Amino acid sequence: MSSQKATRYVLVGCGGRGISMFAQPILKNFAGRAALVGICDINEGRMAYLNRKLDANAPAYKDFGKMLKETRPDAVIIATKDSLHDEFIIQALEAGCDAITEKPMTTDDAKCRAVLAAEKRTGKKITVTFNYRFVPYVTKVRELLAKKAIGKILSVDFNYQLDRRHGADYFRRWHRRKENSGGLLVHKSTHHFDLVNWFLAQEPVEVFAIGSLQFYGPTRKERGTTCRTCKHTKTCEFFYDITAPMPEDVLVNGNELYAKVEHYDGYHRDGCVFDPEIDIEDTMNLTVRYAKGVQMSYSLNAHCIYEGWRMAINGTEGRLECSEWHSGPYVVEDRHPQNILIYRPDRSVETIGVLVDHSSGHGGGDARLHKMLFDQPQPDPLGHMASSRAGAMSILTGIAANRSIASGKAVRIADLLKG
Ligand SMILES: NC(=O)c1ccc[n+]([C@@H]2O[C@H](COP(=O)([O-])OP(=O)(O)OC[C@H]3O[C@@H](n4cnc5c(N)ncnc54)[C@H](O)[C@@H]3O)[C@@H](O)[C@H]2O)c1
Repeated sequence: MSSQKATRYVLVGCGGRGISMFAQPILKNFAGRAALVGICDINEGRMAYLNRKLDANAPAYKDFGKMLKETRPDAVIIATKDSLHDEFIIQALEAGCDAITEKPMTTDDAKCRAVLAAEKRTGKKITVTFNYRFVPYVTKVRELLAKKAIGKILSVDFNYQLDRRHGADYFRRWHRRKENSGGLLVHKSTHHFDLVNWFLAQEPVEVFAIGSLQFYGPTRKERGTTCRTCKHTKTCEFFYDITAPMPEDVLVNGNELYAKVEHYDGYHRDGCVFDPEIDIEDTMNLTVRYAKGVQMSYSLNAHCIYEGWRMAINGTEGRLECSEWHSGPYVVEDRHPQNILIYRPDRSVETIGVLVDHSSGHGGGDARLHKMLFDQPQPDPLGHMASSRAGAMSILTGIAANRSIASGKAVRIADLLKG
């Protein structure tokens, strides 16, 4: 294909995700089919890092509107902090571009309604990049359920646990304020609620939740502002040395991408996980009712000893159990099978092994999503690519849960959609 036919992308948000998930594959793996014609960030140091590290030479803008005007892209990729996604999605659509946004699509119900209305008004398209759908193990679960492997689905029991490395990271920076991320029930659980909606092919109707901050936040007196300036570095198990040297081939280098350029915007990547400004929960439990009657119990804990998830799906013809471990004793090595179990009413058990693939980020999901995004057209028989409706339904469960935690009452999704 000639380079003139390449789809023209601009990227807003040049942090770790913007660089690794979007800029790098466009430049290195899909050249000819995709072109990065502009990058935008409030931090010029991060844009310079992107251009230097990826040898990109992409025009860099601090003004998003100016970038749209001058570069005339086909599509805008949005990888800023979550609470800004809506602004950039709407501006992109209004400028006649498609919008490809990182999850969560946005962070509250008013912004969600505005995003959906803009898509309808402009006739342009929003894609939400739910990379988790593309993990081969997860894809297999979807395939089995679509084939009615356990009959009609009645209930789901889903537990997600973040460990004290990855989980703690959400308490170091912007994610730790609900106004930025919607809390973990929006920022993180959007992945999980999306998977359940996709597996069930049903939308959520009503949510009841409880949640609390028990482990991070002002739970201990020995705390500081950032790890670098803290006097408890020798005793704190959460000490993170962002300035530690990293191998040259590491794309997202904390020191270069964050610490060395923080004078531009005052964004500290190594904030204290015990900071009193933290207002998100670290311990959350939900019950959810779905449109065709399925009931789900779901929990998210951000302070666990190891990381992963377990899901059990009960149907009229069987029970499907699946689980994945991202850290800790049960991590399955690359190219080894990871099992899905189906328990039948006659007490037999079927074991379905799926080869694990760590060759790209998020269990091989990132590379598979790249192909779908940047090498179109591709067949999509299981419906991996997620629309704004999927983006909305996955965040509205978390947004409803936030309201339920605050009010002590069940919250209906339809009320959030209506406003
Ligand atoms: N799907 C996944 O698995 C996954 C993984 C990580 C992050 N994410 C998502 O990717 C997004 C970015 O995450 P990250 O970890 O790279 O965050 P980050 O904080 O490292 O990067 C965000 C970037 O946005 C820039 N920014 C902030 N305000 C801006 C503005 N007004 N205009 C332009 N740029 C602005 C910041 O300067 C920063 O460079 C988030 O939405 C996050 O939820 C998704």
